[in-house]
Amino acid sequence: MSTAHGAGCGKVILLGEHSVVHGRPALAAGLSRGARAEVTASPDARSHARFVFDTAEVVVQAADDSDHPLGRAFAALLGTYSAPPPVHLTVRLELPAGAGLGASAAMGVSASSALDAYLGIPRTPLERATQTLAWERVFHGNPSGVDNTMAAVGGVALFTRGEPLEPVRVRKPLVLVIGHSGESSETKQMVGLVAQQLEREPERIGQLFDAIAALVRNARLALEAGDLRALGQLMDMNHGLLSALMLSTARLEDLCHAARDAGALGAKVTGAGGGGCMVALAADHGAAHTILAALQSLGAESFVTEVGA
Ligand code: PMV
Repeated sequence: MSTAHGAGCGKVILLGEHSVVHGRPALAAGLSRGARAEVTASPDARSHARFVFDTAEVVVQAADDSDHPLGRAFAALLGTYSAPPPVHLTVRLELPAGAGLGASAAMGVSASSALDAYLGIPRTPLERATQTLAWERVFHGNPSGVDNTMAAVGGVALFTRGEPLEPVRVRKPLVLVIGHSGESSETKQMVGLVAQQLEREPERIGQLFDAIAALVRNARLALEAGDLRALGQLMDMNHGLLSALMLSTARLEDLCHAARDAGALGAKVTGAGGGGCMVALAADHGAAHTILAALQSLGAESFVTEVGA
């Protein structure tokens, strides 16, 4: 058989990370950067994969008991097919891993779409989102599903666990600046930290999640109305509540402050926190480049992206 290709988007959570694990809504967008995959026939009787990152490569065999999570995730994904032939998968990641941009979901979705193309299986983006939960569980333990849904569907949407995805009609495309703290963090661990806080103080943390949900709903209205100033303020407020959940770091605080001082309409941690990335909302591309320069002057790897076009 020939070579088949597939792709998956990265994602940025505009508002609502973590509370989304506990049933509240999140507002998220697909990124044009993500992962690209290629599937060919395996030269032997086993399925193996090569993952190509910025500065490293990982080669694994698909096995439930693999030492590497990517080997277990690949086995979990193959387990969603009935009797797949042995294949060789190559995945190239275009995003930093462990940075809150949905790298693992982008890889899983790209692998699924290449496998489907190779096997001639038709699947809608939403079906792919459900299928790749098996992959995400290896990395996240208790994923809300927002990462793999945005990786498969793209666009801008309101995601609530267990409910139909609500695409959001964005009045004006958003210009975002994403800055990497340079600190890596594990989503599983950060999700566990929040779950512990919820267990210890269910009422207070539940109220905090409800407050985030209110910000998310207002942010959706701001997006639909093209009110970037209001959206930025809501992002700042969401950042404050994420900090209250101990998900920010001194470095992320510095980057958010620098972005706001350079003219960002709002800035916050995005994704799991505890390191990884922050996202700043810019009024336009000119403003985004000023914010980008401010983040880069602090040594943060950063880029400008547009969502909702
Ligand atoms: O850090 P990331 O890209 O894995 O994003 C995780 C988002 C969380 O809300 C923290 C977890 C989840 O499953 O929704």
